[in-house]
Amino acid sequence: GPRTQRGGEAGTPWPGVGPPGRTPADRLLIVPANSPLEYPAQGVEVRPLQTVLVPGEGPAGAGQEQVNLTASLGTLAVAAEVEGVALRGEGQAHLSLAAAHLDHLNRQLQFVTYTNTQFHPDTADIGAYGGSARGPPSPCPPPGYNISALVTVATKTFLRYDKLRGLIASIRRFYPSVTIVVADDSQRPEPLAGPHLEHYLMPFGKGWFAGRNLAVSQVTTKYVLWVDDDFIFTARTRLEKLVDVLERTSLDLVGGAVREITGYTTTYRQRLSVRGGGAAGDCLRTRPGFHHRLAGFPACVVTDGVVNFFLARTDKVRQVGFDPRLRRVAHLEFFIDGLGVLHVGSCEDVVVDHASKLALPWRRSEGERQYNRYRYPAARDDSVRLKQRLFFFKNRFKCMAGD
Ligand SMILES: *[C@@H]1O[C@H](CO)[C@@H](O)[C@H](O)[C@H]1NC(C)=O
Ligand SMILES: *[C@@H]1O[C@H](CO)[C@@H](O)[C@H](O)[C@H]1NC(C)=O
Repeated sequence: GPRTQRGGEAGTPWPGVGPPGRTPADRLLIVPANSPLEYPAQGVEVRPLQTVLVPGEGPAGAGQEQVNLTASLGTLAVAAEVEGVALRGEGQAHLSLAAAHLDHLNRQLQFVTYTNTQFHPDTADIGAYGGSARGPPSPCPPPGYNISALVTVATKTFLRYDKLRGLIASIRRFYPSVTIVVADDSQRPEPLAGPHLEHYLMPFGKGWFAGRNLAVSQVTTKYVLWVDDDFIFTARTRLEKLVDVLERTSLDLVGGAVREITGYTTTYRQRLSVRGGGAAGDCLRTRPGFHHRLAGFPACVVTDGVVNFFLARTDKVRQVGFDPRLRRVAHLEFFIDGLGVLHVGSCEDVVVDHASKLALPWRRSEGERQYNRYRYPAARDDSVRLKQRLFFFKNRFKCMAGD
């Protein structure tokens, strides 16, 4: 059946993928069997990429000896096989059940399972029976995007003006008129000037996430590109490709790849999964990797967290926000706060360079030495305890595990 957002067109939306109990569409409704099949019309909830037994299926009405079920964001199967029922398409999006005796068919319908395979937060799948499937959308060539009209580059700097000037110069080589927004909480700010450049000064040491928030608050374009102040644009930093992904898919945010001076390239793809843990809180698990490939974009995947180089819908980033209590080392916290809101992807074919981290210590400027004291706090620093408090009280995690 067709795919829709919750509360969309009239149909039979079932397993919803997303946070529970927020709209009337989340309530479980079972359509009674006065017509061919009793089935849940809405409100069945499944955690991303997990399986549920579909409740309330059957009994089929008189004369119904074949039932075809279709899902669009997952697959259908049976938890147990009933004798005398022929099954076709188990583990696929179309499941067909046929039986000579109606009661066999009804019994079998009690054991139908749905497994979510296309990860998307806060959406609902459509269950349909007897209907026909729609093919995937046909690919169309990317239109010529006006990057200056669609994208603002945002960054946060702290003491590293030499790196920042390198970044700005590299952006100008490829995108001479794109707006660049810089949030700066250095103690003694240096002037920055140039066309299409906005430099916002903040009180000293306000911190990493406060700076991200300030920069994003000033963006007036549909998309914002986040970069670190020590990145360098090259010919492989093709923003058109990232814009194309967001324009043509339901993703809200798409990361690229960062290339180190050693040649090592990382996308830092992270899968975040939450297991319900009762009243005391849930458990978060982080694992490197992705959920599945992104249809139509061979170099891209769907995942939950990406590297510090991403293009995102400005409104969605504002909706999640960067918690300004996180002043120093923080990154994945944004994606954790975005669980259930942000649909995240990652493309490995759009690459930004990372200015060398291999500077020799005796060549470091005083600015760099001061930067490192803030950026890499000692273990006794209470920023670690602050993070744990936020995870517990804000995100309701009582435990966390990671590979
Ligand atoms: C159900 O699916 C089978 C194939 O799996 C097909 O032969 C049959 O025509 C379908 N029936 C309906 C009512 O769509
Ligand atoms: C692209 O957008 C910018 C900013 O809105 C505008 O000034 C410029 O004229 C546009 N360029 C083209 C080719 O449309």
